[in-house]
Order: sequence, then structure tokens, then C-alpha cells
Amino acid sequence: MKTFLKSFLVLTITLAIGSTATTSAQDKATLVAKGEKVYKAYCQTCHQATGQGLSTVYPPLAGSDYIKSKPKKEIISSVVNGLKGEITVNGKKFNGVMVPLPKNYTDEDAAAAITYVYNTWGNPGGTVTVAEVKAARKK
Ligand code: HEC
Repeated sequence: MKTFLKSFLVLTITLAIGSTATTSAQDKATLVAKGEKVYKAYCQTCHQATGQGLSTVYPPLAGSDYIKSKPKKEIISSVVNGLKGEITVNGKKFNGVMVPLPKNYTDEDAAAAITYVYNTWGNPGGTVTVAEVKAARKK
């Protein structure tokens, strides 16, 4: 009886952990798919379809050592609040202006687009939540 109870518990816990993992993987896939749409509709104009950037005007997002080395908070803030001044990305200097994310894009759109960038073109992965975007927005 003891052994039975033990294996029942192990099975229940395994199933519970398994289903949680599946749900969050699905959530992330949904977020990345939504983010790709936002990227194509907006970010792509400057950073280009494959994230390679454009000459010395728009920095690359593909394999960006800037994204890799900066705290996620700072990357989120740059996208929603804008970014200007000299930066170096993958050994190249840029000194341009990224305008703040236009008002017609929601916090959810921003979270999705940045999650898409983090999970594409060899970038480090991870998820950006709506709460993180809300916290990063300058009031
Ligand atoms: C109107 C053009 C434009 C659009 C649209 C745009 N960006 Fe940018 N982005 C820039 C410029 C210019 C810089 C560099 C600013 C500087 O030189 O300080 C930049 C910098 C960045 C950086 C940091 C540098 C790097 O290459 O890693 C990230 C990350 C980024 N943009 C993400 C995004 C995302 C995500 C979107 C869409 C939600 C987006 N950008 C939309 C022009 C744009």
C-alpha cells in the first residue's frame, strides 16, 4: 500500500509539472508568433526583415551583442521610450534616433515584439511580459 501511494504521488506530481511546462511553452510560442506580426508591421521598416539592420543607419538585431550584454529592462525601455546617442553593435558604431513605440501599439504588442527578437536570429531567448513593459514605460 505504501509503495502504491508513493508511485501515485510521483505520477501525479510528474503530470502536474509536465502540464505546466507545456502550457508555458505554448504561451511563449503564441507570444513569438504575435511578435513576428508586430515586427513585420513596424520594426522591420528600419531593422529589416532578417534583423540585419541597414548600413550605418539602423543597427542589427540579428546576433546583436548589444541585446546580449544589456539588461532586459534597458532593452524594453529603449523600444518603448526610444533610444538616441552613440551605441556600438557588433563592432559597428551607430548614432541615430529610435523613436518611442507609437501609441497604437499596446504593451502586449511590445512584449510580443521584443520576445520575438529575443528568440530569433541567434539572440539569447527568454520572455518579456506585459508587466515588464508597463514597468519600463516612462510615465
Ligand atoms: C524608425 C526606425 C526604427 C524602428 C521602426 C525601430 N527601430 Fe530599433 N533602432 C533604431 C535606431 C536608429 C537604433 C539605434 C539608436 C542609436 O543609435 O542610439 C535602434 C536600436 C534598437 C535596439 C538596440 C540596438 C541593437 O541593434 O541591438 C534594439 C534592441 C531595437 N532597436 C529594437 C527594436 C524593436 C523591437 C522595434 C520594433 C518594436 C524597433 N527597434 C523599431 C531604429 C528603429
